[in-house]
Amino acid sequence: MRKGARVIDLGCGAGTWILVTDFISSLEMISPIFPTEGLPLNVEFIECNILDGLPYKDASFDFIHQKFLTTAFTQAQWEEKAIPEITRLTRPDGWVEIVEGSVYLISDGNATKRISEAAQNFLKSKGMNITIGEDIPRLLENTNAFSEIKYKKKAVVLGKKGGKSGEETLRFYIAGFGSVRIVLSSNMNLMPEHYDALVETISIEAEKTTCTTYVDQYRICGHKK
Ligand SMILES: C[S@@+](CC[C@H](N)C(=O)[O-])C[C@H]1O[C@@H](n2cnc3c(N)ncnc32)[C@H](O)[C@@H]1O
Repeated sequence: MRKGARVIDLGCGAGTWILVTDFISSLEMISPIFPTEGLPLNVEFIECNILDGLPYKDASFDFIHQKFLTTAFTQAQWEEKAIPEITRLTRPDGWVEIVEGSVYLISDGNATKRISEAAQNFLKSKGMNITIGEDIPRLLENTNAFSEIKYKKKAVVLGKKGGKSGEETLRFYIAGFGSVRIVLSSNMNLMPEHYDALVETISIEAEKTTCTTYVDQYRICGHKK
């Protein structure tokens, strides 16, 4: 990365990536959970919606990072808003890095399978593509704006068997299933308490020696022409 490069983390959450990498700006929407004090001078957080277009001129950034926004957009929004906006903001010779995870947990465990199926059906009914990461190379290709597109898929084993990242990823999915408790329990014809018990079982199943739970993650990089 050249000195003075401008970098943005779209959908930055708590801003961890931008602070660790010490880059220039970061964008957050919905819940402003990013820190506001003690920031490095070259970092700013702003709150806005990628779907409304961002307040930056064309070709403003040398590097755009975006991680875990699979369920933030429908397939149509990915195609018509998010990817075009990312493309517009990247400078010629700049790079884009998009990291996404499937919402579908692959497991030998029955509780995990049941909840994953229900989540998949719900998100599909809302027009979301739970494995959008597999489709992003094609979406970047279709812009005709990228010369090199690299794609890597890896399986992340959940729970202790997957090390620190496996434990973090398990917590991330448990929180995600918790956040859709009302709608998924209703779709599954379960009392919310029974749904909660099923969600807890996902952790138990992930730690069983006889059971493996994993999820696919995708990393896509594109070099702007
Ligand atoms: C699952 S979190 C991922 C956070 C962070 N990228 C990470 O890897 O930890 C998704 C983030 O995207 C933000 N987000 C969702 N929809 C957005 C939109 N339309 N525009 C901007 N940010 C959005 C959410 O507020 C949330 O912080």
